[in-house]
This record gives sequence, C-alpha cells and structure tokens, in this order.
Amino acid sequence: MELTAYQQEMLEGKYGKGKAMAMEILKTVGESFEAKRMVPISRAHVSLSAQDADVWFAEKMLTAGASCAVPPTVNPGYCLDFFRSRNMLDQKAIDHMEHTDRVYRALGAVMTYSCTPYLFGNIPHYGEILSYSETSVSVYVNSVLGARTNRESLASSLCAAITGFTPEYGMLLPENRYADILVDVEAEMSSVFDYALLGLMGKKIGKGIPVFRGLPKEICTEALIQLGAELNVSGAYEMFHILGVTPDAPDLTAATGGKEPKRHVVITRADLEEELARFSPVLGEDIDFVILGCPHYDYEQVKLVDDLLGEVPSKVPVWIHTSAEVAHLAGRTGVAQRLKEKNVELVPETCVDQACCWRPLAGKAGVSDSPKASYYMRTFGVRLAVREREQCLRWAQKGKVE
Ligand code: F3S
Repeated sequence: MELTAYQQEMLEGKYGKGKAMAMEILKTVGESFEAKRMVPISRAHVSLSAQDADVWFAEKMLTAGASCAVPPTVNPGYCLDFFRSRNMLDQKAIDHMEHTDRVYRALGAVMTYSCTPYLFGNIPHYGEILSYSETSVSVYVNSVLGARTNRESLASSLCAAITGFTPEYGMLLPENRYADILVDVEAEMSSVFDYALLGLMGKKIGKGIPVFRGLPKEICTEALIQLGAELNVSGAYEMFHILGVTPDAPDLTAATGGKEPKRHVVITRADLEEELARFSPVLGEDIDFVILGCPHYDYEQVKLVDDLLGEVPSKVPVWIHTSAEVAHLAGRTGVAQRLKEKNVELVPETCVDQACCWRPLAGKAGVSDSPKASYYMRTFGVRLAVREREQCLRWAQKGKVE
C-alpha cells in the first residue's frame, strides 16, 4: 500500500508508539483488502462495549501514548448512576466501567455512550469518509445519509480515530456501493415494526447489497433505523438502498449502476408473519417487564410511549434505553417524570447486551419491540418475546400476554 510521507512517518514512530501501532494495524487491514492507499476520515464512532478485550485493546493504545486525532463518539456502556442506585451492579462491574470510562476519556473519545450518534452529536453529511463501528450505525450512515464507512470493528475504528486515517477499500469506493440484490416488497408496510420484520429477512435476501423496491416514498427515521439494525441481526449488511428514499438510489439504474442484479427476491406478508412467529410470546403468560430502545430511542419515541400509555400506568416495569441527551430533554419537558409515574424508566447510556446489568432478568418473561434485543438477551437467559411497541405497552398495562 502506498503511504504519504506523513503516514509513513507515523508508521515509523515519529509521532509516538501508540500512533505507530494504530497505523500498523490499519496498514495490515488495508493490505488484506488490497487497499491502495489511506484516506483521511472526518468522523469516527467506536463500538465500546466495556468488555475485557475492548478495554485491554484501548488501554494498550493509551499506554503506548496514543490519543485520538479525530475524537470518536462511543457506543453504550452501562450507566453507573442508574444501576448503582438500584443495587443492580456488583463492585467488580462498577470498577470495570469506571476503568473503561477513564481509558477512553484519556484517549480523547467523546463519551456519548449511544448507538444512535447520527441523531445527536456525530451527524455525517453525504459523501463524508468515516470510520464507524457498531453494525446498526454503519449501515444507517451508509444507506440513509450517504456517508461512507466500512463495517468497522471496535479496534479498526479506534485505530482510525487515533491516526485520522482509514484504508480505502469496500464501501469507501463508489463502485462497491451498488446494489446487487433486487428485493421486491409485496407486503404492505403499515407500521415501523414491519420494517424491523423486513430486516429479519436476511437469510432469504442473501449476501450482498439489497435494493428494496415497492416500499413507500415516505419512511420515517425510526423505520429506517430498525431496518438496518435488524438486517445486521439476520445477516451482515454494510448498506441497503430503497428506491426513491436513500440518497444513492433515485431509481433502479442508479442503485445498481445499470447492472443486472445477481438475485431477485420477493418478500410477502406471509414471510414477515412467519418470522414474527419465531418471536411469539406465550398467550396467557404473565410478563415481568418490557424493554424498549434497541437501538436507542430518540425523544419522539420516548414521548410516544407516554402518549400510548395515556392515563393507565404499566403493571410491570418498562425500561427504555436512550442517550443521556434524550433523557435530559425528557427531564426538562416533564416527560420523564410522567413516565416514571406510569412505571416507565429511562435507562441512559446502556445497551440491552450488558449482561452484568440485565442478568437478574434471566429466566423471567418480557416483551420488546426489538428483535435485536431479544437476540442478545437470549444469550444470557432472558426470555424476550417481540411485538410492536403499542402491543408491548398494552400487555404491560395488563401485566400479561392476551
Ligand atoms: Fe444499541 Fe445495544 Fe441494541 S448498541 S442497537 S442497544 S444491542
């Protein structure tokens, strides 16, 4: 790979051992993908997880003297204030999270702890070159905003943030961003939740870049977020196109670059229903909790929960994952207090995948509007059925599935 004089100096250690290590890793990644050069990034997002390997890697960089040339935003960890005040964390977990925070902060990261940075605090423009990890984030910024990032790992995005560069390959090159699978959606899409179900069609869609045809021209942000997030539960997708909606796909020719798609797939209502049946709750069963906000809810979604509950509180705890900014806004507008009175709590800066926080729910029965949450929480024994938000809340008000 050809490096500029500045990049070569960085590799040779002129700007410190930490930057040299990061450049070495990126060069190796680039060479394995036959990248010809490194290109500057304007933004980064790191899928911090506060897991051992994550912190080990970040600390290794810090000890070698690294700091971020492009301060990255970070994924959720676990909100110490929330879980500590409820005695839900042991001291080991508290120490670990504090340590993670110290390491990333010292590297120069912006501690946003959210998986929707593109809504608040780190919003790319069309065509910007980025290094974003977190699969629901990278697919959104590629597909909806028209920015360019590969589906980075935590380590590669942190290295890009440290050096300010990323190898140019994959999704950074226009010729790799064309759709090669035509997906005709015959199912009528009547709710945001339908887009989550459509995202679960990864096995049927297959490997590649899908272009969806037959969807409405007006699709809300929440639905687009859900589609990308769930595509990366049922498969591994760097981007998708929706004709007339996503920036690179005004029509089929633009989406495919004029090439014949290698596959043609039809998605019907029966396909969506069949997938939903895999996440079905047991009728008549009592539920212990509801979990929403995977990916993190924005303010409108939080407010919608308040509106949907109306005057009737939930019989079981409802937890909504969100960013600290949205939680703050909901506090200022009175929504958070109203929700609290209805047995709904905002859980800022946290992920459903934080087993140390949510393991106490193992063996209990809950519902969520997120198949991704169900997928992750199942790994540590939480039984989570999935239905659309309004249905989840109606069951919450009754404390059981009817
Ligand atoms: Fe966000 Fe965690 Fe879900 S990162 S998308 S809340 S699994």
